[in-house]
Amino acid sequence: MIGSRGAAVAAALATASGPLPARGAAATASVLGEPAGVAWEDGILTYVGPAGGLPWPAAIGSAERGLLIPGFVDCHVHLPFYGWRADEFEARLAGASYRDLHGEEGGIFRSARMLATASDDEVLAFCIPLMREMAAHGTTAMELKTGYGLSVGAELRHARLARMLADEAPQTCTVTLLACHAVPHGMTCADWARVACDELIPAAAAEGLADQVDIYVEDIAFSLDDLAEVAEAAGRAGMPLRVHAEQLGATGAAAAAAAAGARSADHLNHLDGEGVIALAASDTVAVLLPASAFLLRETAPPVSALREAGAALAIATDFNPGTSAMLSMPEAVAFATTSYGLEPLQTLTAATANPAFVLGLDDRLGTLEVGKRADVVLLEEASFAQVPYRPGHNPVVAALIGGEQVPASL
Ligand code: NIG
Ligand code: FE
Repeated sequence: MIGSRGAAVAAALATASGPLPARGAAATASVLGEPAGVAWEDGILTYVGPAGGLPWPAAIGSAERGLLIPGFVDCHVHLPFYGWRADEFEARLAGASYRDLHGEEGGIFRSARMLATASDDEVLAFCIPLMREMAAHGTTAMELKTGYGLSVGAELRHARLARMLADEAPQTCTVTLLACHAVPHGMTCADWARVACDELIPAAAAEGLADQVDIYVEDIAFSLDDLAEVAEAAGRAGMPLRVHAEQLGATGAAAAAAAAGARSADHLNHLDGEGVIALAASDTVAVLLPASAFLLRETAPPVSALREAGAALAIATDFNPGTSAMLSMPEAVAFATTSYGLEPLQTLTAATANPAFVLGLDDRLGTLEVGKRADVVLLEEASFAQVPYRPGHNPVVAALIGGEQVPASL
């Protein structure tokens, strides 16, 4: 709120700090284990430290209980979409694979059809409550992606819908043009990649519709050659690259993403040793999506090897109607901690500061530091371990975006 001041207090505070993306020992968030507080003015943090030093009284929280952390940043989200695909989930439980459903015109093609037949207002009305639910779970900044358009016109509409959603939602949102997601009918992947590079990416850039460009590299989607072309086109348009890499099978896409200077390589379930080394030697963040891995019953990515090699890690929901209808960052933290053996305070950095770097928002949010936005979450218990310890429970007492509390009546 312009011209306003506020403060929050809790039994402790935890945040990452220092150069991003954080890796190695620096990837463990530090804890201020005494009553701690944050204060802000005009939405920007002016104080972070012991509660005794707060410049004005705190209206939020209590010194006896709770933990202040930076708001969660969800850096891999497939909103806007329209409609669910629970029947595909059931078909997978009965033995069908994600690849089978994709080949039968389900999956991404089906979400593209549902989006095409919905009006703009219907799409926004479907998505806004979901984003409010994400805010109630502590997500204060996030990505929106296209990729359910599958033609130049429909992808541009999808990106415009994402910008409209960003305007209406409480979170800070960036828009990623998932220019190559599924191969449109009657085309080869190379045909569509050419159209995406020659027409879609330049048109989206000219209209200011996107902040980043993404491509899904997989045997059922796009190739390493397509990735190279898209990387060049994104570079010409001045947009950072993101890559869906090694989700269903090994492709070498993570190493190619690192070589192309991508901001992230996401999924990584089938990442090999060379990919681990390539990511660790780069600033390309390894984005782990443990809920979609769980729901697809996919192999776990080599997280210990990534960590030991010094790769930077992020955790996200991959919220989408196909592989991960799961929108809670606390739940993603719970999956990552227990399934991948990450320590809770490493997952905190991976769910706040490193994803802010992935989205290019780290200059203004992702940590609790003076000068950054007052995007602050108050958790009910003082230990961050309480979050993965109680999966399925929402630990968020209050979520503030730019110092404004997201209304409790979501
Ligand atoms: O990240 N696998 C590619 N893209 C999404 C799923 C999209 C969908 O099935 O609608 C993912 O898992
Ligand atoms: Fe995805």
